[in-house]
Amino acid sequence: MTLRFALLGDPVRHSISPAMHRAAFDVLALDAEYTARRTAPDEVGPIMRSADLAGGNVTLPHKLRAARALARPSAAVRATGACNCWWRRPDGELAGDNTDVGGLRTALSRFGFRPRGARVLLLGAGGAARAAVHGLLEGGASSVEVLNRTPARARALRDRALAHATDADRAADAVRVVAAPHAGATYDLVLNSTSLGLSSGDPLPLELVRNAVGARFGAAFDMVYAAGETAWVRHARVLGIRAVGGLDMLVGQAALSLERWFPGRAAPFEVMREAAVAELRSRPEPEPADGSSAA
Ligand SMILES: NC(=O)c1ccc[n+]([C@@H]2O[C@H](COP(=O)([O-])OP(=O)(O)OC[C@H]3O[C@@H](n4cnc5c(N)ncnc54)[C@H](OP(=O)(O)O)[C@@H]3O)[C@@H](O)[C@H]2O)c1
Repeated sequence: MTLRFALLGDPVRHSISPAMHRAAFDVLALDAEYTARRTAPDEVGPIMRSADLAGGNVTLPHKLRAARALARPSAAVRATGACNCWWRRPDGELAGDNTDVGGLRTALSRFGFRPRGARVLLLGAGGAARAAVHGLLEGGASSVEVLNRTPARARALRDRALAHATDADRAADAVRVVAAPHAGATYDLVLNSTSLGLSSGDPLPLELVRNAVGARFGAAFDMVYAAGETAWVRHARVLGIRAVGGLDMLVGQAALSLERWFPGRAAPFEVMREAAVAELRSRPEPEPADGSSAA
């Protein structure tokens, strides 16, 4: 029997997830289908519960709603309040995970960056930033300074991280809300989780040399992804800062999703990555400004 998986989001027209999953199903000879479904908010729970789907992914703007539909949320879903991957267990209950957390871990590891003991500047405080804070704390980062256009949202992110951290005291020391990079500081990593860079006319999320306070950066990670370099990755590399875009994180979250749906199978990361790059290269238009490319 063919197993059916779906991506729920709105919009989903520009998603590259179907290309990645179909390539993986082919190479693993899995009898499975993956489709993208444009989904209204009140359809999310009913579609996740429908018997014709074995599981799927969730993207903007439904990740929080999907988390609430789960009977068996993972620790990452509980910590972030967001679910991007769900499946039906043999007992019929809906289980789900936030594989953006593991996807970032995979991408940082491929980048050769170890979070343990690292001082990190995190730009942004949206859904992707929740996954980043949780993953960085679990990975042992010594500090995560959150810089966001809307400071109240950064404070809410910190409160949530503290409420769900495995070591609340350490998290309280590590996660700080900042209005600018610390004067004269050296950060091991600066991580862009804002949506700046999705549109070609966007300003850089942070100017890495002429920032007002003279902070320095060992490495830069841009969650925005492209077939080649993103504008911010190019900016960093020109300055001699090691930098990488979000493509491996995107492929990583997809690979982990597949491994949740088919326990015991190893996702073919390189095959999925090639499919993602081919799909991105085939796009005639620049990225839309509304974040619709996520997942
Ligand atoms: N590579 C991957 O696998 C992966 C996974 C997840 C997400 N992402 C990417 O991560 C980015 C954020 O996604 P999300 O789900 O976190 O979105 P989100 O919840 O909508 O958060 C957007 C963030 O961007 C900030 N922002 C938006 N416009 C801005 C501007 N003009 N100036 C300064 N800050 C601005 C927002 O600040 P305010 O709070 O002030 O509005 C907020 O912090 C997107 O580019 C998405 O594609 C990539």
